[in-house]
Amino acid sequence: MRAVVLVGGEGTRLRPLTETIKKELLPLMDRAVLHHTLDHLSRHGVHEVILSSSYLEDTFRSFIEARRGDPTITWITETEPLGTGGAIVNALSSVGTGEPFLALNGDIVTDLDVTAMVATHRTRGAAATIALAHVDDARAFGLVATQADGRVLEFREKPQEQVPGDINAGTYVLEPSALSRWEPPGSLSIERDVFPALIADGLPIYGFSSDAYWIDLGTPEKYLQAHFDMLDGKVGSAPHYATPFVADSAAVHDGARLGRRAVVCAGARVERDAVVEDSVVHPHAVVEEGATVRRSILGPRSRVGGGAVVNRSVLAEGAAVPAGVALDEARVSAGQVAASTERTGAPGRMG
Ligand code: GDD
Ligand code: MG
Repeated sequence: MRAVVLVGGEGTRLRPLTETIKKELLPLMDRAVLHHTLDHLSRHGVHEVILSSSYLEDTFRSFIEARRGDPTITWITETEPLGTGGAIVNALSSVGTGEPFLALNGDIVTDLDVTAMVATHRTRGAAATIALAHVDDARAFGLVATQADGRVLEFREKPQEQVPGDINAGTYVLEPSALSRWEPPGSLSIERDVFPALIADGLPIYGFSSDAYWIDLGTPEKYLQAHFDMLDGKVGSAPHYATPFVADSAAVHDGARLGRRAVVCAGARVERDAVVEDSVVHPHAVVEEGATVRRSILGPRSRVGGGAVVNRSVLAEGAAVPAGVALDEARVSAGQVAASTERTGAPGRMG
């Protein structure tokens, strides 16, 4: 089976991390998000994935070169962003006709039983099957209304009212023939254009409900939460991780204190008397002596100076916090130095 994994979004809500790193390539515990996704697909019999992006394309090259084993990766360059539907339609020539295929958002973590979903799709004779998750507030998602047998009645992307309900969990089984009316390469949204059109035409579109673990990594809070959930063993498809998680090549001083929900990635260093709680320290980042880091993400090669306090903040790749500075809810851009103490909730001032 083949799968199109959508990896071409800008990751706006995850800035400044995504200034230099695609959200699907951010580290999640000990490997890139996309590795978790591809490993999961491989376990469900997916042998080939098609990836496409127009944004930070170069950063995928080293990922693809380093990736070993199933599934094989076919890369398609989007000369301009085609949208979620456009990217899928543009990949149809690589997907082939006749057999259903998978398409999925690349920024989700799930242990969805893809095999069962495909089997249900075939049994129902569906043109498209949409994995569903239940949320209390559907505003950030696509709200999917179904009838008792699972058939989709309506797909409403980003509803304005705060309502609970079943939402699009971003994994689809699709029949290529259902997409034949759209010509590549055109810009198209699967949520706003494709699904509403298919439903209006009366095609059999079904929802697939399950109690699978599911999270969209689109914000710093959700990105941290995905780490906490993996540490708590809530993600069935993920490897077992020790708490706190310290990569083999990371160096944590005996006199440093790590909370249970700390993640210290490869090559990172946490020095004497430093405290790291509820935070993710990316590869080769450094937390110097006596610094405190809470509910924060320290990007690759970022540095927190001695005695500094970093709370609920995000440092992009190579960002630095000088010794003794206190940051609260700051965002520090790639390669920038946090110049002043901020306790306002406003973005950190860059030096
Ligand atoms: N190739 C390509 N080209 N990929 C794209 C493009 C594009 O132009 N635009 C977005 N993507 C990718 C993103 O990288 C991401 O992996 C995925 O498509 C979804 O885009 P997001 O920007 O993250 O959308 P969202 O989170 O606001 O909403 C989507 O996901 C929700 C579930 O997480 C929608 O599918 C909602 O309906 C859904 O509920
Ligand atoms: Mg998303």
